[in-house]
Amino acid sequence: MQFELTEEQISVKEAARDFTQQELSPGVIDRDRNMQHPTAQVKKMGEMGFLGMMVDPEYGGGGMDTLSYVLAMEEISKIDSSSSVIMSVNNSLVCWGIEEYGTEEQKQKYLPLLASGEWIGSFCLSEPEAGSDATSQRTTAVDMGDYYLLNGTKNWITNGGKSSLHVVIAQTYPDKGHRGINAFIVETSWPGVTIGAKEDKLGIRASDTHTIMYNDVKVPKYNRIAEDGFGFKFAMKVLTGGRIGIAAQALGIAAGAYELSERYAKEREAFGKPISQHQAIAFKLADMATEIEAARLLVYRAAWMKDQGMDYTSSAAMAKLFASEVAMKHTVEAIQVHGGYGFVKEYHVERLMRDAKITQIYEGTSEMQRIVISRNIL
Ligand code: CAA
Repeated sequence: MQFELTEEQISVKEAARDFTQQELSPGVIDRDRNMQHPTAQVKKMGEMGFLGMMVDPEYGGGGMDTLSYVLAMEEISKIDSSSSVIMSVNNSLVCWGIEEYGTEEQKQKYLPLLASGEWIGSFCLSEPEAGSDATSQRTTAVDMGDYYLLNGTKNWITNGGKSSLHVVIAQTYPDKGHRGINAFIVETSWPGVTIGAKEDKLGIRASDTHTIMYNDVKVPKYNRIAEDGFGFKFAMKVLTGGRIGIAAQALGIAAGAYELSERYAKEREAFGKPISQHQAIAFKLADMATEIEAARLLVYRAAWMKDQGMDYTSSAAMAKLFASEVAMKHTVEAIQVHGGYGFVKEYHVERLMRDAKITQIYEGTSEMQRIVISRNIL
C-alpha cells in the first residue's frame, strides 16, 4: 500500500492552499452574508487551472489525476465551500461527463471554454418532482428530426445564474423508463432558456442556485451526449464521479473546522491553562482528528480507484456518506470548542456548519448513498 503523495500532488495541494489564503479567504464572510457570487475569484480559479483539472491538455485542461483534484477541493473547502462547489460541478459533472461520453466535436468545442473558466457549466438533472427519484424526469426532449425540442423545469441548479452551458437530462421516450432518457449540451444563450428565481440558502450562500425553465428550446441533434437512451446511465456515472468531489468538499469542511478548533484551543485559556490542556476539549479534538483521518482515507481511496480504472461506485458513495456525516458532526463540535465565539460569524465555524449540511443532500442524499452501497455489497 502506498500512502504518500507524489511531488506533483503535493504541489497541487500547496497551490490550492496558497490560492485559498490569498484569494478566497478575504471577504468570505461578507460574500456568505450577502449571497454575493465570487465572480472575480472564480475567474482566477480558471486562470490557475482549477476548473478543468482532469481535462486532457489537448482540450485545454490540466491533465491531472482525480487525487490531485480531491486535494485541491479539500484545501479550498477548508475556507470557501461556495467556491468549491462551483469548481466541483464544473470539473466533475460537466467537464468529466463531456470528456468521457461526448463526441470529438463536442469536446473540441466546449472543453477549452469550460476548463479555462471562460464558460461555467451546470448539471441539470433535479426537477420539482424528480430529486432522489431521478428516473421520473418530466422534462421532455422530443425528437424533431435534426433537433430535439426541449421543454421543462429544473431546480436546485448550481451555477444556474452564471453558467453558459447546461448538461440537461430529459425524457425522449416516456414509455421506455430510464432507457428513454437522454443527456444534452444546451447553451444558455439559445432562445427559450430562462433563468428563474435564485435560492436563499442555509449554506454555500455565495454559490448561485436557480430554477431553470426550458420553453421550446431547439437542441441540435449533434448536441446529444452519447447514444440514444443512455442519458440516465450517463447521469449515474457522472454523479458517481461527482460524489468523490463532494466527499472531498465535506472532508475539507471538517478539516477546516478542526484546524480552526485546534488553533483556538491552544490560544484560549481557562482555569489557568489553554483549553487544549483540558481533557474535555482534548478528547473532542482527538475524536475529530481520528474521524477526519478515516474520512480522508475513504475519499483518497475512491479517487485512487477511479484513477486505476476500477469500479468505484460503492467506494465513492461510502466516501461521500462518511465524509459528509463527519463534516456535520464535527462542525457542530467545532462550535462547542469555540464556546460563544463559535456562535458568531467572525470565527468561521458557524459558516462551516451551515455549509456542511448540503454535503449530506446534494449529488445524492445520505439515504441514496446507502441505497447505492447496499445494492453493491448485498
Ligand atoms: N453507474 C452506472 N449505471 C447505473 C448506476 C451507476 N452508478 N446506478 C444505476 N445504474 C443503472 C442500473 O444498472 C440500471 O440499468 P439496467 O436497467 O440496464 O440494469 C439503471 O441505471 C437503473 O438503475 P436503478 O434501477 O438502480 O435506478 P433507480 O431508479 O432505482 O435509482 C438511484 C437508483 C441510485 C436511487 C438513483 O436514482 C440516484 O442516484 N438518485 C440520486 C440522484 C442524485 O444524486 N441527484 C443529485 C442531483 S445533481 C446535484 O446535486 C448537482 C449539484 O448541483 C451539486
